[in-house]
Amino acid sequence: MKVIVCKDYAEMSAKAADIVAAQVTLKPNCVLGLATGSTPEGMYACLVKKYEAGELDFSAVRSVNLDEYYPITPDNDQSYRYFMNYHLFDHVNIDKANTNVPDGQAKDGAAEGARYEALIASLGGIDLQILGIGQNGHIGFNEPGEKLYPYTHLTDLTPSTIKANSRFFASEDDVPKQALSMGMGSILNARKIVIMASGAAKHDAIVKMLSGVMTTQTPATFLACHADVTLICDEAAYNG
Ligand code: PGA
Repeated sequence: MKVIVCKDYAEMSAKAADIVAAQVTLKPNCVLGLATGSTPEGMYACLVKKYEAGELDFSAVRSVNLDEYYPITPDNDQSYRYFMNYHLFDHVNIDKANTNVPDGQAKDGAAEGARYEALIASLGGIDLQILGIGQNGHIGFNEPGEKLYPYTHLTDLTPSTIKANSRFFASEDDVPKQALSMGMGSILNARKIVIMASGAAKHDAIVKMLSGVMTTQTPATFLACHADVTLICDEAAYNG
């Protein structure tokens, strides 16, 4: 894994945005795998700035997001569809018909997982996947446990993730208890992966990820199998 340590969140965000911009420039109709959460917000802001400066054209870009709460409606301001519109899609010339987020209103989670996998395949796979990392080492909502799943699936959130994400909701009880998430295979099949981490709270997860030992208890450790992964983190995440 290539590691880029930045001095702070702003530098991390700018570096990650540079990689996304290079991807879009090299392949204007690329498939971007996108992530939500606090970590990539600054990267999206940098991409919007580049677009506004006339440096980027998203008109042919396709996107697939990693995950979505379940159940949730797209107009809920905590849904990941809402997040993506708010932070990126509403501010650049991407065709929203080419943007995809798992359907938090699907009647059948398993069927939605199968539909989403077929969709990724029909797009020709993911060129560049952006990831955050949970304090518990999750990627997407592939949570630590005895088992990991290869493809997009409905999953229970762990108490640690519910607690971490409760900061965005009125109370911990309001956090959805389940999510639809790409699986480990959906992620590892991406041609290139960038994983971002900011802040000391992510330090333990980063240390485990870089340890070279793979365990389902730290799903991010499986990135060690992939030939083209770049960790972009700040000093606080790297040094603790
Ligand atoms: P965060 O979440 O960016 O909000 O810290 C990352 C994650 O849980 O993957």
